[in-house]
Amino acid sequence: MTTHELPVAEAKTNPNPPRHQPDSPPPTGRPGGPDWWLMMKAFLTQGKQIASCAPSSAAMARKMIDGIDWDAAKCIVELGAGTGPITAQLVKRLKPHTRALVIELDPTLCARLQDRFRGVPNLDVVHGDATQFDKYLAERGLPEVDHVLSGLPLPSFPKELRNAVLGTSARALSARGTFRQLTVMPLVYYKMYARYFDDVKFRFVPWNLPPGGVYMCRGFRGTVASVK
Ligand SMILES: C[S@@+](CC[C@H](N)C(=O)[O-])C[C@H]1O[C@@H](n2cnc3c(N)ncnc32)[C@H](O)[C@@H]1O
Repeated sequence: MTTHELPVAEAKTNPNPPRHQPDSPPPTGRPGGPDWWLMMKAFLTQGKQIASCAPSSAAMARKMIDGIDWDAAKCIVELGAGTGPITAQLVKRLKPHTRALVIELDPTLCARLQDRFRGVPNLDVVHGDATQFDKYLAERGLPEVDHVLSGLPLPSFPKELRNAVLGTSARALSARGTFRQLTVMPLVYYKMYARYFDDVKFRFVPWNLPPGGVYMCRGFRGTVASVK
C-alpha cells in the first residue's frame, strides 16, 4: 500500500486513555472501535454519503468478486471501500501481476483501510473522491481497468456525479471488463443501470444485513453523459 491523496488525521496516542464509557464503542484491538461501529457512526453523521449502517457481509463481498479471472486481471479499482470487507476478499486473491486501487472519501474510514491493509503489495489505498478516479489512474500510469467494484451509493448521487463515475469507468474499462455495483435494495435500480449498460445481471445475496446483491454490468451504451 502506498500513497494518500488527501491528508488523513494522524491518530494521537493518549498516555492515559479514559476508561470505557457506556456511550463509547465496545473495546476492541482497533483504535476507534470495530468496523460496524465506525460504519454506524459514519451513517448517523453523514447519512446519504454512506447509505449503509453496517459493513457488507463476507457473502456480499465474495459475490462482488465472483467470476473474476485472476490470471488475466491486471488492474482492479474499488470505489467507496468503507471499512474494507470487499478489499479483504480482493487481497486474498490478488496475483503479483495485478494492481488494485482502492478509493474512499471518508477520512475516518480511509484511515481504517490504510491501517488494515498497510504493507499489502500492489494495493494502493487513496483518500479521495471516486468522481475523480480518472486522475488517480493517470497519476499511477494505469490506462486500463479490468473490473470496477463500486460500493458507492450511486443512485443518490446527483446525475452529473453519477455520470462522472460511470463515464470514467466506460473510458477505462477493457473490452471484457465489468462494472460491479453493490446494493441493499435488491433490483430497485435495475432499470437505472440498464440505461447505462447493454448487459445487466442481478445477483441476489440473502446473507447480508439487510439482504442485497450485486449488479454485474458490461458494455456501456454510447455516451454516458447523455443518459437522463
Ligand atoms: C454503502 S458504503 C459501502 C462500504 C463498503 N464497500 C462495504 O461494502 O461495506 C458506501 C461507501 O462509499 C463511500 N463514498 C461515498 N461517496 C464517495 C465518493 N464520492 N468517493 C469515494 N467514496 C465515497 C462512503 O464513504 C462509504 O464508505
